[in-house]
Amino acid sequence: MIAIVNTDPNWGIGKAGALQVHISQDLRRFKAMTIGKVIIYGSKTMRTYPKGKPLPQRTNIILTRNPQPEMAGAYLADSLEKLLETIEELKSKHAYQDNDFIVVGGESIYKLLLPFCNECHVTRINQELPADSYFPNLDTDSEWELVNQSDWLTDPKNNLQFCYLYYRRIIGEN
Ligand SMILES: NC(=O)c1ccc[n+]([C@@H]2O[C@H](COP(=O)([O-])OP(=O)(O)OC[C@H]3O[C@@H](n4cnc5c(N)ncnc54)[C@H](OP(=O)(O)O)[C@@H]3O)[C@@H](O)[C@H]2O)c1
Repeated sequence: MIAIVNTDPNWGIGKAGALQVHISQDLRRFKAMTIGKVIIYGSKTMRTYPKGKPLPQRTNIILTRNPQPEMAGAYLADSLEKLLETIEELKSKHAYQDNDFIVVGGESIYKLLLPFCNECHVTRINQELPADSYFPNLDTDSEWELVNQSDWLTDPKNNLQFCYLYYRRIIGEN
């Protein structure tokens, strides 16, 4: 399993149920990285998607204890155990590899599933933004290492700089 997230320097990821900022180039990258894969997210994150529905061209797994009609077409999981069962079912029926299962938010689901992730693709915005939702701080977590950082890019619409960070879980030597 891997995670994709967009954070500010404090690992803030959202405010009042929405993203902190929309960066078109990053959203296109998110699409390219997730098309044809399995995305896993919580019901509140679904509400941030276009028309508040599962994303097309991807297999969607929504964590919820409260199924809604808008979730039609997605797999639903009401617990971690059900999610893990669904992942095994999808692996046995399709040619999905571990890295095809992508955790895409929000805060509660990143926290729940980080222990199952071996890679995190983090888009880092260089400016602090208002936040009430956070991703776990990988820089202070001894189980994670930063292995790659892109050049800084500029988002012309928001006049923000951002870069792409790639973190990997440190695998023990024995
Ligand atoms: N920056 C980014 O990359 C990024 C990405 C995604 C989201 N976000 C932001 O994150 C924020 C939302 O995060 P959030 O933590 O409030 O919401 P969330 O994680 O998207 O969804 C929470 C919901 O997931 C369900 N859930 C959670 N744990 C569960 C479990 N163990 N079993 C079954 N269902 C479970 C519950 O749904 P029910 O209430 O339906 O039962 C819960 O209310 C928003 O601001 C959003 O914009 C940011």
